[in-house]
Amino acid sequence: MQTIRVATPSAKYDVFAGSGLIRTLAPRIQRIAGRLPRRVFVLTSPAIWALWGEAFLASFAEPPIALFLPPGEKHKTLRSVESILRQMIAAGGDRGSVLIAFGGGIVGDVGGFVSAIFMRGIRYVQVPTTFLSQVDSSVGGKTGVNLPEGKNLVGSFHHPIAVFADVETLGTLSDRELRAGLMESVKAGFIRDRALVRFMEDSADAILGRDLKALEKVIAASIRMKAGVVNRDERESGLRMILNLGHTLGHAIEQATRYKALLHGEAVAWGMIAALYIAHRRGTITSAQAQRMESLIHQYGPLPQLKLRAAKLVAASGSDKKNIGGVRRFVLPVGIGDATVVEDVAPAELEAAAAFMLARAKGNRA
Ligand SMILES: NC(=O)c1ccc[n+]([C@@H]2O[C@H](COP(=O)([O-])OP(=O)(O)OC[C@H]3O[C@@H](n4cnc5c(N)ncnc54)[C@H](O)[C@@H]3O)[C@@H](O)[C@H]2O)c1
Ligand SMILES: [Zn+2]
Repeated sequence: MQTIRVATPSAKYDVFAGSGLIRTLAPRIQRIAGRLPRRVFVLTSPAIWALWGEAFLASFAEPPIALFLPPGEKHKTLRSVESILRQMIAAGGDRGSVLIAFGGGIVGDVGGFVSAIFMRGIRYVQVPTTFLSQVDSSVGGKTGVNLPEGKNLVGSFHHPIAVFADVETLGTLSDRELRAGLMESVKAGFIRDRALVRFMEDSADAILGRDLKALEKVIAASIRMKAGVVNRDERESGLRMILNLGHTLGHAIEQATRYKALLHGEAVAWGMIAALYIAHRRGTITSAQAQRMESLIHQYGPLPQLKLRAAKLVAASGSDKKNIGGVRRFVLPVGIGDATVVEDVAPAELEAAAAFMLARAKGNRA
């Protein structure tokens, strides 16, 4: 097991990555929260509970009160939040209650937000069960839900008291979800961790074969990278922006395909390929580096094909939530293992990058 410390101005907690964590949760949480309160809640989804509920309950003398969120973005809403809050009141929840968010990023974001606002804030624990939620969404304190107008438009910063990323739970994840989640680790390597890039290049078979040690290594490195960035820039005023490599066009692709055709990581992968094009043109990476980086992305593919127009993607990227005051911020890799944020990517340059990426996305190499 590996332990990674998150220490921001507003919170300090540990992220544990390893196998067998969910079978031993109760004593682990007790060690951090003290004696467990009268009401412990677990927010999960019916499918995850069916697969892993028994293992989850194994270490609890008194089972937590289970609350269920149906799967899918369409349930990541204020309506779900209200329903969960009311169920917690009905079950006797109070300010001392603890909530455990047990599931993918959707359960984590909703559970975190519920914890941020229930009785003005209670303690919560993240137990992420998808690759993406283990390396990304469970760490950093961002919580929230969608509005009909767009994704993640309502939320708050509320850090968990601990995160337990159990790599064994990934055993039941679909291959496609795993591969898509791994793109966030590819990103982590590109922006901050050359050694992770090398490991992912050399160990793709073990990682995709779900070797527990290999997964633990990738997950711990990815979390360490994110924690390091979040520790220095909790509220995304500067450095935290680099976590958005591939996300400008990635979000535009998701929006243009109405969040239906691609998983988030797949869209980010295409977005990174577009970013490689701009970085290469501007000379922040060499052509050999661009090729090596693109090969790594395809190693964790296949990526779905895209039938979109470049101009449409550029237009969609203009409404990115990360844009402040109309300035489009764009993350470029600098060599392998570093990145920079620029604000001068003109629409024409972005469109050229989108066109390059879309040409790749039709003839999909992988
Ligand atoms: N808060 C943040 O900083 C942050 C960062 C990135 C993404 N997010 C959010 O995370 C969400 C996406 O998270 P996700 O990719 O985990 O998707 P998800 O929560 O929808 O989970 C994907 C699917 O996998 C299933 N699943 C989960 N664990 C499983 C397991 N162990 N075995 C089998 N099936 C399992 C789920 O039921 C679901 O159908 C988005 O809403 C996104 O906005 C938040
Ligand atoms: Zn992402």
